[in-house]
Amino acid sequence: MLTLPSYAKVNLFLHVLRRRSDGYHCLKTVFERISLHDTLTLRLRRDSRIVLTCTDPSLPCDERNLAVAAALLLQAHVRRRQGKAAALPGCSIHIVKRIPLGSGMAGGSSNASTVLLGLNQLWKLGLGRPELMKLAARLGSDCPFFVAGCSFALASGRGEKIKPLPHLDRIRLWHSIIIPGINVPTPRIFRAWDRQPRIKLTKPLFSVNILCSALKSGRPADIGRYLFNSLEPVTAKLYPQVRLARRYLEDLGLKSILMSGSGPAVYALVGAGKEARALCTERVFDRSWKVFCARTV
Ligand code: C5P
Repeated sequence: MLTLPSYAKVNLFLHVLRRRSDGYHCLKTVFERISLHDTLTLRLRRDSRIVLTCTDPSLPCDERNLAVAAALLLQAHVRRRQGKAAALPGCSIHIVKRIPLGSGMAGGSSNASTVLLGLNQLWKLGLGRPELMKLAARLGSDCPFFVAGCSFALASGRGEKIKPLPHLDRIRLWHSIIIPGINVPTPRIFRAWDRQPRIKLTKPLFSVNILCSALKSGRPADIGRYLFNSLEPVTAKLYPQVRLARRYLEDLGLKSILMSGSGPAVYALVGAGKEARALCTERVFDRSWKVFCARTV
């Protein structure tokens, strides 16, 4: 049996460059792994079934769930390597869900990546990180980042080409995160980005390299103005709650604020653990909203 944390991510920079012929989008992004996490328990089975249970009843427990898809993909990989006669290993997966669904923090992608890493251990497959990252890329654009096992990374392609940022290894940022009580489907946001007139598309004022350099300070005030997300105005237009969440954080006097991924999670970089936790106990005016305090891991 293996019990593993499955961390969430936020994007500190997300520049959508163009739509590709396969429908995906080329982007340049900076991922940060944060302490908000689901917990996965993996158990070997005597048979070769993949059985998923989850604390959130709204999640499907069949192959539509990326955690199951990850285990099936690994089984197919074993079969390819060992031949059709191979006795396939099975597993039971239990997910304690905390990362809100469809929030822009990649909970599902993280679960899938944790299953790949965990089953590689439990099934004693001995696959290296590069091979696991290739498999992860087939499951979702955000998955390879979680397999890479770093706190910060620069990503390109559709988000699956990962360059870890080891010079930021010691940096620990604190975040107050608001998740408006809505579930935002990522494809809808990218389609809306496609429909934006080119002239209206916001462009970053600073390059991603300037942000990566500013991150070295670890100080929210020095990082804030370099945060960027092409998708924030697109999501905010469709879901006004995103603008309300930003305004709520601004009204608390916070300055380094950004929406993560395709939203709707909006976070502020805050001073230290104490300040972050104090903000999380502030009353949020909409009861459907969730507030989290999380730091880099
Ligand atoms: O890769 P993943 O399956 O997580 O992506 C979900 C959806 O998000 C895709 O089907 C696509 O509509 C959109 N997407 C995109 N460009 C990316 C990443 C995701 O258009 N780079």
